[in-house]
Amino acid sequence: MCGIVGYIGTRDAYPILMKGLARLEYRGYDSAGVVLLSDHTFNLYKKAGKVSELDAFTKGKNTSGTIGIGHTRWATHGVPNDTNAHPHLSNSGKLALIHNGIIENYATLKEQLTKKGYHFKSETDTEVLVNFIEEVKIQGNLNLEDAIRTALNEIIGAYAIVVMDIDNPDVLIAARKGSPLVVGIGKNEFFVASDASPIIEYTKNVVYLDDKEYAVLHRNGDFTIHTLGNVQMTPFVQELQMDLEAIEKGGFDHFMLKEIYEQPRALVDSIRGRVNAEDGWIKLGGVEEYLNRILKANRYIITACGTSYHAGLLGEYLIEDLSRIPVEVEFASEFRYRNPIIYNDDVVLAISQSGETADTLAAIEIAKERQALVYGICNVIGSSIARATHAGSYTHAGPEIGVASTKAFSTQVVLLILWALQIAEKKGSISTSYLRRILFELESIPKKIEEILKQNDAIREIAYKFHNAENFLYLGRGYNYPVAMEGALKLKEISYIHAEGYPAAEMKHGPIALIDEQMPVVVLATNESAREKIVSNIQEVKARKGQIIAVINEGDEEIRAMADYAIEIPSTEEILTPLLTVVPLQLLSYHIAVMRGANVDQPRNLAKSVTVE
Ligand code: F6R
Repeated sequence: MCGIVGYIGTRDAYPILMKGLARLEYRGYDSAGVVLLSDHTFNLYKKAGKVSELDAFTKGKNTSGTIGIGHTRWATHGVPNDTNAHPHLSNSGKLALIHNGIIENYATLKEQLTKKGYHFKSETDTEVLVNFIEEVKIQGNLNLEDAIRTALNEIIGAYAIVVMDIDNPDVLIAARKGSPLVVGIGKNEFFVASDASPIIEYTKNVVYLDDKEYAVLHRNGDFTIHTLGNVQMTPFVQELQMDLEAIEKGGFDHFMLKEIYEQPRALVDSIRGRVNAEDGWIKLGGVEEYLNRILKANRYIITACGTSYHAGLLGEYLIEDLSRIPVEVEFASEFRYRNPIIYNDDVVLAISQSGETADTLAAIEIAKERQALVYGICNVIGSSIARATHAGSYTHAGPEIGVASTKAFSTQVVLLILWALQIAEKKGSISTSYLRRILFELESIPKKIEEILKQNDAIREIAYKFHNAENFLYLGRGYNYPVAMEGALKLKEISYIHAEGYPAAEMKHGPIALIDEQMPVVVLATNESAREKIVSNIQEVKARKGQIIAVINEGDEEIRAMADYAIEIPSTEEILTPLLTVVPLQLLSYHIAVMRGANVDQPRNLAKSVTVE
């Protein structure tokens, strides 16, 4: 979702902004723009389309200046076109602003400003905001900082903004409420961005702005951070842990493929230091800290969106199976709006790769209002959800750039396995010998994923057979049912093929009507506990001439013989199977999307970090 980059210092701002925007492309966007300030003039360039199109458009034009801001826009108010793209200028032409988020009271403000003679070129809430700041500045005869603070106190909604002023060419002001913003601190220079990826190349020292805070960045290297209540804060300067390599493709054609291949390493990182198989213990710091409250809870509620929701479904199966504590799983978007029952002794687990998903954040706030303990499982360190929750664990998947979530999912599942096992062990609902057996097996999962990745060529061949299909059905039982849902989501979001994930037994309650010789059916056939039933499901599909792509345990000749195509996974404990069965589904979707010529890393209409509802 929209990306922000800003620079003030001694270097040419343009290449820094453009490179930064390219690094933020993964977030999803439909137009881009930059504005540079030099010789008391704003040079503003905006284009619908890709950052590369903006770059081509500026060729031969004046892009000089050592202060500038750039933006990738994911349309909310108004279609994606050149006019609606950011930055937006105020009516006087003196203020320039970029904005992520949504200004909810923009219509009222626009009406007030229109009555005062302001006019608007775009349909955006952002243009309203920049003019509102201008109006507050003029009416109150305020300096830029006071005008921004005063105006933002009137704003309802979520935003991250960066503002430039022709009359203050040595200052950049950045503010946030509900949308992430990070400031990179160099030597007499500052970088501002929606996440650290545009900054990492230049400095590792960063400050994450908190909600309702703004930073005033001076060209001489001074900076201050204040709250919107005008209280000066002591900046917490952190060192970034990521490196440049982590956000580059490293020889892979797409980030998604790189991230699928990174899963063995990501899983090792998510387990590291938290598990000792030999001695049979698990230590998730956040769980230890709130252990009594977690153990006393009568119920857990898991809330998340998209792929993270699918991980949450697995969390339900795992926690109920192992610790016998009831679990409810709910889409955060439903949870926040349906007046849910939340008791003050509930524990709410919020799962999010980005840690910025607006619906999940809102669900967390509701749970906190009702005094539940909120535990976050996030990938992005320092993200809003990581900070909004009482306790939590990072997945340590590393930066995930491809919009389709892959390694984030498998590390979320690892965290939920550890969560469930740790609670079960403390409750005494599993034995130490069982725990040790699972932990030893968990440690072997990264190697087993490597084995699956070796079948990439064979999976590509299967993808070739089906890349022109119009529909896909994914079936799974037990622990493989959420994986079937995830496999279907992966395919639809990157290849635009309609796909549905179902519990296999539900097939005869409706979806079976869809099956004919055109319908590929991916069957996750690895659960030994439901083997007979899966065999029956396959026969039901075959009887209607459906094409079976079966994911099977290695050496399962019976199901291989029944299937049209089979992909083997190494055998493992049933509760760990999702970590293996999801991998061929990720590869299948990836190859189908590539063969259909789709933009795998930035699928149409999608954003990596969904910061609006
Ligand atoms: C699917 C995908 C989305 C996200 C969803 C939640 O591949 O990436 O469905 O899973 O938008 O995002 P996070 O996990 O960042 O809260």
